[in-house]
Amino acid sequence: MRTYYCGELRSKHIGETVTLYGWVDRRRDHGGVIFLDVRDRSGIVQIVSDPERTPDSYHGAESLRGEYVVKITGRVTSRPEDSLNPKLPTGEVEIYADEIELLNAVRKQLPFQISTADSENVREDLRLKYRYLDLRRDRMSRNLQLRHQVVKAMRRHLEDVGGFIEVETPILTRSTPEGARDYLVPSRVNLGDWYALPQSPQLFKQLLMVSGLDRYYQIARCFRDEDLRADRQPEFTQLDMEMSFMSLEEIIELNEGLVCQIFQSVKGVELSRPFPRLTYAEAMNRYGSDKPDTRFGLELVDVSDLMKDSGFKVFSGAIAAGGIVKILPIPGGNEAFSNERIKKGDLFKEASEAGAKGLAFIRVRENGEIDTIGAIKDNLTEAQKQELLDRTGAKPGHLLLFAAADANAVNKTLDRLRLFVGNELGLIDKEKMNLLWVTDFPMFEWNADEKRLEAIHHPFTAPHPDDIHDLKTARAQAYDLVLNGTEVGGGSLRIYQRDVQEKVFEAIGLSTEEAYNKFGFLLDAFEYGTPPHGGIAYGLDRLVMLLAGEESIRDVIAFPKTQQAGCLLTNAPAGVDDKQLKELQVRSTYTPKSESKS
Ligand code: AMO
Repeated sequence: MRTYYCGELRSKHIGETVTLYGWVDRRRDHGGVIFLDVRDRSGIVQIVSDPERTPDSYHGAESLRGEYVVKITGRVTSRPEDSLNPKLPTGEVEIYADEIELLNAVRKQLPFQISTADSENVREDLRLKYRYLDLRRDRMSRNLQLRHQVVKAMRRHLEDVGGFIEVETPILTRSTPEGARDYLVPSRVNLGDWYALPQSPQLFKQLLMVSGLDRYYQIARCFRDEDLRADRQPEFTQLDMEMSFMSLEEIIELNEGLVCQIFQSVKGVELSRPFPRLTYAEAMNRYGSDKPDTRFGLELVDVSDLMKDSGFKVFSGAIAAGGIVKILPIPGGNEAFSNERIKKGDLFKEASEAGAKGLAFIRVRENGEIDTIGAIKDNLTEAQKQELLDRTGAKPGHLLLFAAADANAVNKTLDRLRLFVGNELGLIDKEKMNLLWVTDFPMFEWNADEKRLEAIHHPFTAPHPDDIHDLKTARAQAYDLVLNGTEVGGGSLRIYQRDVQEKVFEAIGLSTEEAYNKFGFLLDAFEYGTPPHGGIAYGLDRLVMLLAGEESIRDVIAFPKTQQAGCLLTNAPAGVDDKQLKELQVRSTYTPKSESKS
């Protein structure tokens, strides 16, 4: 019987005889005395065996190698003064092993080192292929345990404090409108028909409100076939919530309570409340982003009014075409960024990846002289230059970077540059946890490809009551929660009246017939006494990633997919038997590239 996990042993256990199970993390032979670091999910403890004091275990200890599975029985003793290890929680003790039982050996060459002592940077494809070994490593094991703690804190708070009920919703369902591509599953029983995997439980959770469940939550798996990034996976997990009879303010307050509880219980951090808020318009204006990282300044300054009559055609032309001119002012940027970096180096690269053709800039020299460079030089009056300095608060040493184009393009460029410069200049305090609500999103944005309005959140989001007269430009009663520049959650008050819902469908170009075909069940449900309701969903993977200090959600998901949406461990996705396809009456039209060429 196990008496303790390895990582639990402390000096208070000295004198006890304990039984431990685990993996040999490292074995060191010090002139006849063998030291083993034995590891389980809780951590590591040092085991000692020598021919004199522990003759029964010595022979076994000699044959052990890294990652062998062992059972150890021994006495907890205090370490000698000179071998205390303050870096290890168990560093004050060691176990004199009376018995060492080998439970299983390693029969193949390990693909990489697993030992905690080894900080070797292992290639991610190898880690994903041998994920079961990767998850043995301290960092990954801790991440999964943290994830568990976060989910536990969520459940406790929602159930015990909030009175929420967990309900599971279907995975085999119809397309749900979150705007990504669906994963489809053919039906064998209803040939020719397809299920879609849910992009979120949105429609079902709203129906649960119609059912009178009042407060619902679910740790829900969602599926979206979209281009992958470090914070996106094709299947990911949401903490999904919906509640009836609550105002937007009440929903926000309840959620701040939840988030504070999570931070308190897993990080011991007390967040101050209420969380700051920005409207979407303010966020875009000041940061060029609807998920600004507010851990550092570098706020943007709109100078369109000042530049509209400037002789510099790039600026005045952009404004005449309905665009804007904005500046990213960078204190100390003069010294940090050479002309070369701005014109063709890393800053230029960042800007051009965001779609800009180039960057106009001004330097404020140490003597206060304003140094305009390139085409901008002869086209600004002294008064205009001075006004630019006043507006941006520029001092000697400042670099002012300009972007001029339509508002979206300007914001995209300067948002990207702001984050790049913030990182480059070390302005981001990695210890900070800055939470921010972004509110008052527009209901719709223009989809230029499809030439129609598109719901920014989803088409069930309620419009702002003041804007109901003109839905096309209306603000939504929607809110996103942003943590250090990452959107960790998003939700809204919902439409609960059928006529408003139909108007929104109409605004996004969905005919009554199409709307009925897709969401008739919801529109019908609205006719049977629907309570006012609203909700939110958190990206669990993203939240845990930030709490763990990781840079990719892959590092907080046990078995994630690669950038190509594949699983290197199981080799999914993979071909299937012809027999299965026949049963489903599905035939592939795909021809591999090499065949189509021949
Ligand atoms: P939304 O689409 O904003 O809202 O999703 C909620 C949160 O889920 C996370 N998220 C993702 N995480 C990892 N990989 C992805 N591909 C991915 N996509 C989204 C984000 C996001 O904030 N039904 C609505 C919620 C509601 O209105 O209640 C919804 O799904 O952190």
